[in-house]
Amino acid sequence: MNTVIVDSVLTNAKAYLKERGQIVDCCIAIEEGKICKIGREPQMPQADTKIDLHNLLVLPGLIDEHVHLRDEDRAYKEDFSSGTAAAAAGGFTTVLDMPNNDPVTMSKRRLQNRIGLAQRRLLVNVGFYSELPKTLMEIKEIAEAGAVAFKLFLNGQVGGVNINDDAALVEALKAAADADRLVAVHAEDNTMIAANEEKLKRAKRVAPIEYLRAHTEEVELHAVQRLLKLTQDTGVQLHFLHISTAAAIEAIAAAKKEEQKVTYEVTPNHLMLTSGEVDRYGGLAIMAPPLRDRMQADALWKGIEDGTVDTLGSDHAPHTFEEKRASSVWEIKPGIPGLEVTLPLMITMLRKNKLTINQLVALLAEKPAEIYGLTDRGQLKVGSNADLTIVDYNRSFKIDPVKFKSKAKFSPYSGWEVYGKPAKTIVNGTLVYDEGDIVAKGGVGAIVRGGSV
Ligand code: DOR
Repeated sequence: MNTVIVDSVLTNAKAYLKERGQIVDCCIAIEEGKICKIGREPQMPQADTKIDLHNLLVLPGLIDEHVHLRDEDRAYKEDFSSGTAAAAAGGFTTVLDMPNNDPVTMSKRRLQNRIGLAQRRLLVNVGFYSELPKTLMEIKEIAEAGAVAFKLFLNGQVGGVNINDDAALVEALKAAADADRLVAVHAEDNTMIAANEEKLKRAKRVAPIEYLRAHTEEVELHAVQRLLKLTQDTGVQLHFLHISTAAAIEAIAAAKKEEQKVTYEVTPNHLMLTSGEVDRYGGLAIMAPPLRDRMQADALWKGIEDGTVDTLGSDHAPHTFEEKRASSVWEIKPGIPGLEVTLPLMITMLRKNKLTINQLVALLAEKPAEIYGLTDRGQLKVGSNADLTIVDYNRSFKIDPVKFKSKAKFSPYSGWEVYGKPAKTIVNGTLVYDEGDIVAKGGVGAIVRGGSV
């Protein structure tokens, strides 16, 4: 009889299995980067490596669909090595990289160049967004070159298609649908922001809180409504990012009822923080869309409770400390690092019964995998990618941005006492992060290509 020896077996796991809808005591065997068996210890094959997890919680490798890895000409803020180290340290095994880079990712050549630069440096799996380019022909080309999805910033012109030209937008969205790629949307109306900003600047209003007066709730609602209307007959799948208001949720929920192909994301920031944090932390708490009041945050929690929120994305948006501390709010770069706080924040809320383990795993793994067509991940099951997020559910710790692997070592969560420290992160069957340390070399993470799984 041949004895099968697999690469590794993890014993004494408390693993969340979707097919059972609960946490199960089990062992997990891994062979050639895939999960090959889940069961009790006597059923496990022999293995080259055995890791005793001592009852740590094991989740399917988390997917962060909303990450700005930067690099290229913005490598001073973050690069592929530091960004994917932050992902591994935060328990994320796949991240999707945003295209508002320097240069902007919006052509086949730029995408291929970015993939080439990233390839040997990745510690987790990475898929790439492209902006919508100027010419329709390029959309198919970019999709074929591997873009997982397209991104549309409505808050300012980033990509090639004119965001204020309805007809051009509709054509681009149709082309994305034809290329079988979803369009992820930053829904804030650029003309309203510009008009608000101009008034505030004329009145010499430069304090951080003024940002909220430019990026009002109406700014988000208007962009959501406009796009829902424009896309009605395009067949495109829309995914709204970082939705922050009750009114936008209502508009999206109504479109869902009408069977429009639309889903949406919220961020931990808009769930956990409110505009009060802007008074407290100034520029450090500035992000787009901005933090709102408690009523809006409660509406997002309600969306999680009733299942209308589809995904959680960190919107990891690293900047330098100086860029966050400019004296005028109009000079401050919006965004904060999120990869290394998202899971602990959500585990902490799980412990407070603000969400269930089923919801947490759906928001951070199952639904992003489903929405982005990453069919080989998002669940712990035989045949899936061996991406595992291993968490110490019971250990509390203080968030300390100085210890972030990200280059952006600041956070409005600094000093928060949270639970759910990522203990080990396994990517494609390889242990990448272990109790505070990166233990693998760049290149263990793979490029995730849209339409290829
Ligand atoms: O706060 C933000 N920062 N929101 C965005 O949508 C972009 C991001 C960035 O790139 O810094």
